[in-house]
Amino acid sequence: MLILGIETSCDETSAAVVRDGREILSDVISSQIDIHTQFGGVVPEIASRKHLEAINGVIDSALENAGVTLDDIDAIGVTYAPGLVGALLVGVSAAKALSFATGKPLIPVHHIRGHICANYIEHKDLEPPFVCLVCSGGHSHIIHVKSYTDYAVLGQTRDDAAGEAFDKVARVLGLGYPGGPKIDKLAKEGNDDAISFKKVSFGKGCYDFSFSGIKTGVINYLHNAEQKGETVSKADLAASFQKNVTEVLIGNLVEAAKSVGVDTIALAGGVASNSRLRQELDRRKGNLRAVYPSPKLCTDNGSMIGCSAFYEAQSGRYADMTLNAIPYLSVDLI
Ligand code: KG4
Ligand code: ZN
Repeated sequence: MLILGIETSCDETSAAVVRDGREILSDVISSQIDIHTQFGGVVPEIASRKHLEAINGVIDSALENAGVTLDDIDAIGVTYAPGLVGALLVGVSAAKALSFATGKPLIPVHHIRGHICANYIEHKDLEPPFVCLVCSGGHSHIIHVKSYTDYAVLGQTRDDAAGEAFDKVARVLGLGYPGGPKIDKLAKEGNDDAISFKKVSFGKGCYDFSFSGIKTGVINYLHNAEQKGETVSKADLAASFQKNVTEVLIGNLVEAAKSVGVDTIALAGGVASNSRLRQELDRRKGNLRAVYPSPKLCTDNGSMIGCSAFYEAQSGRYADMTLNAIPYLSVDLI
């Protein structure tokens, strides 16, 4: 089954052609990062306009690079939730138009399910059940993937998403947007034991997160040093912040996996590219099998949507022309 996957939930316009959920024939990504960098974060209205400008060209290139035409495509999968509503609408409208014009079925894809499915592409033998930590700019969730289409949330952030915390801390350190990769790089030059921040835990059996405290901790640390006229090592601060966040994320992931008795854990989402997070996973995994996608498949892309669409289609989940963009929708409420 050949699926055209379309993704426009945030600041990447992407389309991919995926065979049987696991094989990428093409993946075209048009990133808007350079534009949003000027504003220190994603500006939703600009994102929608840029998606609109890029979408048709990106879809055409994805088909061309795969060496296929629309006639060869069996179905169109599209991210419809969650995300920036104006951005999502561009992808949903494009997918609906293609589906209407060609008569090909339309498959609605949840963005977080897409991130999780990115793991199937590079780990051909991976099958549910497993527990996945999904952390991106807008989400921090620990999800029990019970089957290809049955998901349960075991833990989630109570305030900021992990990526959001990375981006905000990078901003106060003057590193620019997106902050995650910049903190990751700078932290390599720092001492991660230099500054100790409190780890937030909600007690045994609860796998939720909170990152607003550490974000404020970093801001207060900088202000105090400034008032005392002391120089701060940004590398030490970045390393200490990153250590705290990655230890909490992986600690909760491992405990949550043990609580439901799976033997495999996975990472997904933009923050899953973080080198310290991957090291921590390898350090803490014990007897569990640990997998994660390569960095290109961690950030938003059409392939993961084509992959998830394949499995949604297997369970008979199709949409009609009433499909709409939904900005907030829990991964288990479908
Ligand atoms: O999944 P994604 O591309 O988009 C959303 O769905 O949000 O994730 C983007 C987020 C940003 O917050 C970015 O700073 C973060 O992922 N990120 C990282 C790294 N690479 C990207 N965070 C930490 N370390 C990285 N290496
Ligand atoms: Zn994402």
